[in-house]
Amino acid sequence: MRMRSDAVVLFGVTGDLVSKKLFPALYELTRRDRLDVPVIGVARSAWDDQQLVTMARKSVAEANDEIDDEIFDQLADNLSMISGNYADPTTYQRLAQRLRDAERPVFYLAIPPAVFGSVVEGLAAVGLADRGRVIVEKPFGRDLASSRELDRTLGAAFAPERVFRIDHYLGKEAVEGLYAFRFANRLFEPLWNNEHIDNIQVTLAEGFGTQGRAGFYDTVGATRDVLQNHILQVVALIAMEAPARDDTEAFRESEAAVLRQVAPLSPQSTVRGQYAGYRDEPGVATDSNTETFVATRLTVDSPRWAGVPFYLRTGKSLPGTATEVVVEFKQPQRSLIPAERGTTAANLLRFRLGRGDGITMSIQAKSPGAEVASRPVDLSVDFGAALGRRQEAYERLLDDAMDGQHLRFARAETIEQEWRIVEPILDLPAAVQSYEKGTWGPADADALAGGWHTPDLR
Ligand code: BG6
Repeated sequence: MRMRSDAVVLFGVTGDLVSKKLFPALYELTRRDRLDVPVIGVARSAWDDQQLVTMARKSVAEANDEIDDEIFDQLADNLSMISGNYADPTTYQRLAQRLRDAERPVFYLAIPPAVFGSVVEGLAAVGLADRGRVIVEKPFGRDLASSRELDRTLGAAFAPERVFRIDHYLGKEAVEGLYAFRFANRLFEPLWNNEHIDNIQVTLAEGFGTQGRAGFYDTVGATRDVLQNHILQVVALIAMEAPARDDTEAFRESEAAVLRQVAPLSPQSTVRGQYAGYRDEPGVATDSNTETFVATRLTVDSPRWAGVPFYLRTGKSLPGTATEVVVEFKQPQRSLIPAERGTTAANLLRFRLGRGDGITMSIQAKSPGAEVASRPVDLSVDFGAALGRRQEAYERLLDDAMDGQHLRFARAETIEQEWRIVEPILDLPAAVQSYEKGTWGPADADALAGGWHTPDLR
C-alpha cells in the first residue's frame, strides 16, 4: 500500500519556484487539511527559521487576496530551515537528524541540474533515499545524453517508484481537460484523425519577458524551457490513442507510445527568434543566440495523423499571454453553400488552457437575410464560470507525490522521447532572428504555418 509522506523537504527553498509556486501550494494543502507535517527548507543561503516564515508569508500573500492567519500559522509552525552547502556531508547529517521520526519524507529538488548529483548522493549517503521520495523539476538535463545521465544518478540512489518528474503542465486541470474532452465524449473522437482534421496549432504565448530570470533563461532558451516539455505534453494528450485501461500505467504507456511516433523536428521547418533588447538584460550574454521564441512543424507518423501538420510556437514578449490548442477541421466534403457566400472559414475547436480556460468552437451559421449564406460564429464555454475554482498544478502535484501517485508525472522514457524529438533543432539551430517586443515573432514564423490562428487573449 502507498503511504502518505510524513515530511516535506524543499531543496532550493530560497529560489524563485518555491516562492512563486510551492509556498502557495503548501498553504492551500494546509487549508484543505492535506498537509500537517514538518516542512524543511534547505539552501546555501544562511537563513534562519524566521526568515523562512517571512518569505513564505510574502509568497502566500502574493498568491492570495487575503491570508487566513490560522491556516498560515499552522503552516508556519511546521516550517524550519537548514542552511548548508550541497557538497557538504554535514548538511545531510543535520537533515537526517531532523528527519529521524519521518518514515517517508519527500524531497523536492528545486535546484539547478548542476547540483542534482551532490544532493542525490548526499541523501543516499545518510540512508534517506531508501525511505524517501524525490521530486525533480525541469529542466531535466540539456539534451538526451545529459537527461540519461541524470536518470542514472537518480536511479543509483532512488528506486523507480520513488522518483517523481514534474512537468507542471501535466498537473494543470485545463490540460487534463483535454483527456476528459476526448475520452469522456462521443462527439468528437470519431472525427479525431486525418480524414477530418486539417492541422493543429499549439501556441504558448507570454506577454512578458524573462522576469528577472534572464541569467537562467539565457542558458536554456525557449526550446528547452517549454517546447521540449510543456508543449510536447500537450501534443501527446491531443494525439494519443485511448489508453487500454483506466489506470496510471496504461495512461503513461499511451502517452509514451504517441511520442515514439513523432518524427524528430527539422531545423528547416523551425524558426528561432529573439526579442529586441534581450541582449541588454542583466545576466544575458551580449552576443547571446538564445531563442526567446521558437516555431516549428511537427509530424506524427501514425495512421491517425499521417498528413496532419502540428504547428507549435512559443515565445516571450509576444502580444499577450495565452496557451491554446486550435484544431482546424477540413472543409465539408460537399458544401452546398459556395465559398463566395461565406463557407471558407474552417470549423475550429479552440482549447484555452491558460487563464480563462475553456473551449470555443467556431461553426458556420446561416447569415441573416434572404440569401442562403453562412458566416462563422462561436460557441464558447468558460470553465471557471461553469465549473468553479480548479486546483493549481503545484498543489495537485505535491499532493500526488506525497501519496506516491504517479499519474500526473512523466515517465523517464517520455522525457527521453521529448529530447529525441527536439535534439536536431538543438544540434543544428536555425539562425536566431530578431523580433520586436509585442509582435508574434519573426515574419518567417508566419509563413511556416500558412496562417496562425490568433490566440484569444483574455
Ligand atoms: C515554466 C518556464 O516551466 O513554465 C517558464 O520555465 C514559463 O519560462 C512557464 O513561463 C509557463 O508556465 P505557465 O503555467 O505560466 O503557463
